[in-house]
Amino acid sequence: MVFKLKKEKIIVTSALPYANGNIHLGHLSGAYLPADIFVRYNRLINSDIVYVCGSDEHGVPITITADKENLTPQDIINRYHENNKAAFEKFGMSFDIYSRTSIPTHHKTAQEFFSSYHKQGILSEKKSLQFYDEEAGMFLPDRYVEGTCPKCGFEEARSDECERCGDLYDSSELVNPKSKISGGSPQLKETSHWYFPLGKYQERLEDYIDKANTKFSWKNNVLQYCKGWFQDGLKDRAVTRDLDWGVKVPLNSSPDKVLYVWFEAVLGYISATKELFKNTEKPDEWKKYWQDENTRYIAFIGKDNIVFHTIIFPAMLMAWNDGNDDKFVLPENVPANEFLNFEGKKFSKSRGWGIDVNEFLEIFPPDSLRYTLAANAPENKDTDFQWKEFQAKNNSELADILGNFINRTFIFAKKHFDEKVPERGELEKIDEDMLSTLAEAPSKIGKLLEQYKVKDAVSEMMNLARAGNKYFNDSEPWVSVKTNKERTATTVNICLQTIFTLAEVFAPVIPFSSEKIFKMLNIEIGDWNESGKREFKVGHQLNKSEILFPKIEDKTIETEILKWSNPATFEEEVEEEEEQVPEITFDDFMKVDLKVAKIISAEKVPKSKKLLKLKVKIGKSERQVVAGVAQSYEPENIVEKKVVVVANLKPAKLFGIESQGMILAIEDETGKLNIVEVDDNLNSGLKVR
Ligand code: 2FM
Ligand code: ZN
Repeated sequence: MVFKLKKEKIIVTSALPYANGNIHLGHLSGAYLPADIFVRYNRLINSDIVYVCGSDEHGVPITITADKENLTPQDIINRYHENNKAAFEKFGMSFDIYSRTSIPTHHKTAQEFFSSYHKQGILSEKKSLQFYDEEAGMFLPDRYVEGTCPKCGFEEARSDECERCGDLYDSSELVNPKSKISGGSPQLKETSHWYFPLGKYQERLEDYIDKANTKFSWKNNVLQYCKGWFQDGLKDRAVTRDLDWGVKVPLNSSPDKVLYVWFEAVLGYISATKELFKNTEKPDEWKKYWQDENTRYIAFIGKDNIVFHTIIFPAMLMAWNDGNDDKFVLPENVPANEFLNFEGKKFSKSRGWGIDVNEFLEIFPPDSLRYTLAANAPENKDTDFQWKEFQAKNNSELADILGNFINRTFIFAKKHFDEKVPERGELEKIDEDMLSTLAEAPSKIGKLLEQYKVKDAVSEMMNLARAGNKYFNDSEPWVSVKTNKERTATTVNICLQTIFTLAEVFAPVIPFSSEKIFKMLNIEIGDWNESGKREFKVGHQLNKSEILFPKIEDKTIETEILKWSNPATFEEEVEEEEEQVPEITFDDFMKVDLKVAKIISAEKVPKSKKLLKLKVKIGKSERQVVAGVAQSYEPENIVEKKVVVVANLKPAKLFGIESQGMILAIEDETGKLNIVEVDDNLNSGLKVR
């Protein structure tokens, strides 16, 4: 399918996660899945869109993790960059690039911004006293110092502010300061830092947000945060730190300093885009996505990152634009989400409260998670991930509504129309209504996605599947097939048409399943806006159908609840249950080709007590199977039985006789094998599943 791209360009970014821990479901639901849905939708309406993300690889916490583990910061970021990249991939995140801030392109970009400000004379250098930890050999960021409040005596007061009495004081007044890193007593030491004059940009920032909001309707939660910051008044902010891990300050006079992590991380969006085009024929192409005034920039984040994306980053871009000819676009919108909690509590890696995405996706399909998180997105308030709800969304919505509708339609098409799209007869009102529902659905859902209302969009998607089921039920094709085949043909045709539209509108949310549905329909995904109207040719050949959303069993969910709410207990229990058979996926199971077979002859295998040599018929073909059932059956008693064979088992030799399959049997408590018998009126060759 060749798309004609729209002229307007869009750049989408998702917050760069720290490469200091594994991402969890809370991250996915806030800053990543909503962005991915938006991007996938835009690709389907032919937008010229680029979506970038990557790891945020600097900052003090990374150096602390490295020290704790006796590794280098580079080891730590490599570990988490790879883990998170893999998790995102499994989850179906469709970044155009997942970059990282440790790469030279990023360091160079960040230094260029700093140098431009320095050259323009925007930055000022100020001396200050800061706590220095001799033992750790480093200046301590505020949150790594604790002491006694000079006013109320609270012993866990921060270096310049007391949480209990609210007093603000100078760090030199803190009584009995302690380093949270080494536990020692840090000393105040003079240092100097470069400051960015955020206050000078306040008026322009307020104006920018006001205009952007008028035009693009910012979310209320985001506006409220900004208002709070403006009310307090923006202040100068130090943009350098005394550390050796980070982007070096590009000044000879500041050799041991790096840029403050937030000050360079936001520039990671730009460096990632440069990296994306770096080795292509058009390495400057990135500029079109950042420096064309018609480019739309949308920044997806969680609520903890709002100030950096609505105030600090825009101010940095304004400052660059003031002194350079190539001017950057500012975010048109920052649709920040609230938080997703986990069974009522905040996700917390350190307290073991959360779910590792990689492990989760070993057990459950990504689309089930994507659908649940999207339907429950924390758009306007914090929401909660609950195991039982996850199971219910999968079983009662994906499987029972969407999956069931697709399945029953395919069964009808197969049984009565030779797996082909039948021709419609004369349309009745019920058909016309369904067709107009289909024609309207994509634009209705598209509008919601354009307004970042993922929850509402997802509910409209499922409503369309509900409408499909209702249409099927009301049309009663199982009745009409006996009396009026033309009616049945119309129903099945329109149901297939509905599946076609469902596959398209669901594609941004459950891309893996949508792809399978398109394959079953034997057609390619096309333009979103045409999807409600694109019609199948009569006689179009369908492919085999498959079960799209296997049900999640209670037992599986209960195991997970146990495992994630108390990992220690789980490990103990697993050790006791050594006999447990490892789980397989549905796909694993589907690899086994089970068929009904009829035993047509049987004879003993010389010198073997256990084996019988059997001839079986599977459909029209004949096979030889050696089965270990001689202690339970005499040859003459087994002939004529209908059984189940594993038809795609690799042939093997037993007692020198080739066996081309295996017969299913139940081993009872005494070790005796009982063949699984099939009802005689089921024909040999039928598939067992
Ligand atoms: O909150 C975080 O995980 C930050 N690393 C987000 C950075 S977003 C941007 F600045 F890159
Ligand atoms: Zn106090």
